[in-house]
Amino acid sequence: MKFFIDTANLSQIKEAQDLGVLDGVTTNPSLMAKEGINGELNIRNHYKAICDIVYDNVSAEVISTDYEGMIKEGNELASIDEKIVVKIPMIKDGIKAIKYFSSKGIRTNCTLVFSPGQAILAAKAGATFLSPFIGRVDDTNWDGIELIQQIASIYAIQGYKTEILAASIRNSLHIVKCAEAGADIVTCPLSAIMGLLKHPLTDIGLAQFLADHKKANA
Ligand code: E4P
Repeated sequence: MKFFIDTANLSQIKEAQDLGVLDGVTTNPSLMAKEGINGELNIRNHYKAICDIVYDNVSAEVISTDYEGMIKEGNELASIDEKIVVKIPMIKDGIKAIKYFSSKGIRTNCTLVFSPGQAILAAKAGATFLSPFIGRVDDTNWDGIELIQQIASIYAIQGYKTEILAASIRNSLHIVKCAEAGADIVTCPLSAIMGLLKHPLTDIGLAQFLADHKKANA
């Protein structure tokens, strides 16, 4: 399973990259706004700065919701760097735009996915990545992990090539459950990635090993 970081914060992206396990980055308009990035040029420059940190797979989301707008914006985003993946919402014109980009060899991430039906449509259109939002599904008292399992099963049966990119990850347990459920990728906050490191018995065991070594070498 690949690991993407879900932020537009450059220092967090660098920290995750330094860990050596990072495969990509996802952003969205809310995450860009959180970093205070606005205006066409600043947005372009920020995406370029992200691309300069990571090896590949930088999802940049279109703001347009009509087909022509998404094509224009998506082409502009893709021209920033070959690492850019054009992120497109799961709406009617979005599906048409995904089909267009797929035919041009431009990678896409179909976002705001909440049902297996949407997942089938995105795969049929040729999306490179599919982003089901598991945390937001959980928030509505449905089971986000069950959604990943269902999509993984459908994609395996149908032989769809679209990769399942589990998004809206809230904690480290979500990551483990996504791995179990068959997600190809998880995109997570840095805290959830770092949370995987933690176990009290690791800390207790390490303290004991170091104390025993100190005693033996006193
Ligand atoms: C990433 O692609 C999504 O935009 C993001 O994971 C959404 O997360 P949220 O539900 O925490 O806003």
